[in-house]
Amino acid sequence: MYCETSTELEELVERARPYTSDGKVADYIPALGKADPKDLSIAIHHLDGKCLSAGDVEKTFTLQSISKILTLALVIMDHGVEYVFSKVGMEPTGDPFNSIAKLEESVPSRPLNPMINAGALAVTNMIHGSTVHERLGRLLALIHDMTENSSIRYSEEVATSEYKTADLNRALCYFMKQHDVITGDVEELMDLYTKQCAIEVNCHDLARIGLVIANNGKDPQSGRIILPKQIARIVKTFMSTCGMYNASGEFAIKVGIPSKSGVSGGIISAFPNKFGVGIYGPSLDDIGNSIAGIKLLEMLSARYELSIF
Ligand code: DON
Repeated sequence: MYCETSTELEELVERARPYTSDGKVADYIPALGKADPKDLSIAIHHLDGKCLSAGDVEKTFTLQSISKILTLALVIMDHGVEYVFSKVGMEPTGDPFNSIAKLEESVPSRPLNPMINAGALAVTNMIHGSTVHERLGRLLALIHDMTENSSIRYSEEVATSEYKTADLNRALCYFMKQHDVITGDVEELMDLYTKQCAIEVNCHDLARIGLVIANNGKDPQSGRIILPKQIARIVKTFMSTCGMYNASGEFAIKVGIPSKSGVSGGIISAFPNKFGVGIYGPSLDDIGNSIAGIKLLEMLSARYELSIF
């Protein structure tokens, strides 16, 4: 695929890059602490095959929470909408992504949405397959289809680093197991979840995934349907309402494009029926979103009047 380096995008990246010094890279997963906080790159893939990029777009990073939109799509394909949303809700929360507070407040206990860690863990628990290997393989196959990049794997280093330090996520799992939201072995679930979060991509891969979501689940080049339209719609809706955690409201106002972030510094955006965006900028704000990545999207949205609202 041919991708042009865009001078206009380069200029916006250089305007956004200074904001990297206002944030810091995540280090609660120790392996993520090695990232270079000054990094900032973007790729935009359009429906007609046109692609624009700026910055070091070949650099790889892990999906982290961006994986949550993909596991959600997979389990809806596995179980149907009704079953999935009997286990996890559809409502945004103003709490941090790893908060346990709301789990105890809601009766019957059910995580508020699939984008917070509790909801994402409940979703991963539903992935069909008899072994972690098989279940992860099914997620990777979906990602290979969406990106047309079959070399995508997970980082053993990042997965192990998170697995060893994920006690808060373990606590969420044990709480949910007690309340029948999840079933099975918690350590096995943590193994699958940390590997899912450690899947390594670059900005092009993210932009391709965003493009398929933007195009209602269909690969615009091959015409192949990868996700049913209804699932692409649900995913886009969650990206709009909960994709940037407890900053989703402000982001909707300032940017207005369905997007999902991860603590490695990735942001994926899906502009309906037009293009997909992949951004990497590991310096994060207090909420856990790429600080310069958000600035870059704000600048893009303002310059080209991109808000869908
Ligand atoms: O579960 C975690 O804490 C990480 N694997 C993913 C969290 C994440 O990316 C939240 N992002 N803003």
